[in-house]
Amino acid sequence: MSIYEQALNQTFKTLEDVKTALYKVYNHDVINSISKRIKTPESLINKMQKKHYEINFKNIIDNINDVAGLRIACPVKSDIYTVIGIIEQMPNIKIIERKDYITRPKKSGYSGYHLIIETPVTVNEQNVPVKVEIQIRTMAMDFWATNEHKVRYKTNKKLSNFDSKRLTAYAKIINILDDKIMEIYNKQELA
Ligand code: GTP
Ligand code: MG
Repeated sequence: MSIYEQALNQTFKTLEDVKTALYKVYNHDVINSISKRIKTPESLINKMQKKHYEINFKNIIDNINDVAGLRIACPVKSDIYTVIGIIEQMPNIKIIERKDYITRPKKSGYSGYHLIIETPVTVNEQNVPVKVEIQIRTMAMDFWATNEHKVRYKTNKKLSNFDSKRLTAYAKIINILDDKIMEIYNKQELA
């Protein structure tokens, strides 16, 4: 797991520097917060079993993209694309996959932009590429996703059909709010 920790910590540090640099350029936060987590062994094993993979390191490295995960929350939608533009140009980061759940939200209502990147980590004086998942959301999307995750997954009580539909409807309201706030930003020429 230490290669994932190294990859996670070095990417986190780079993104913290990006956050500071962006603040200096724009005079306001383009990135509100960055958080990181390593998948727990329990969750990793669950995922491997769900996908019917035999549990060994090769299968983890080849098939699990989110052992190391970073989450970036931005004030408004346009900030997300500013951040993606910067990540695309970073020398130590190679983007290997993108998922745009902003243009096309998931059926649950989930919205966000996901990048799977590879970053080199030094092991026995050799560079090995390690995958990291970066989720980029607005603060409003993050608010929805955090709470939806809590009530839908992290409890044994199954959600009623009614509440499930409500959550999806609230995601749509949040999307409208994100666009409305953007409109005000645009008028002030902040975005
Ligand atoms: P996983 O096998 O769960 O990683 O899904 P995937 O490989 O299809 O990747 P996807 O990009 O769809 O989802 C990866 C991550 O996005 C999840 O681990 C969650 O953190 C987040 N996510 C995706 N869908 C939802 C959702 O409906 N609700 C919430 N709260 N989070 C979601
Ligand atoms: Mg995942």
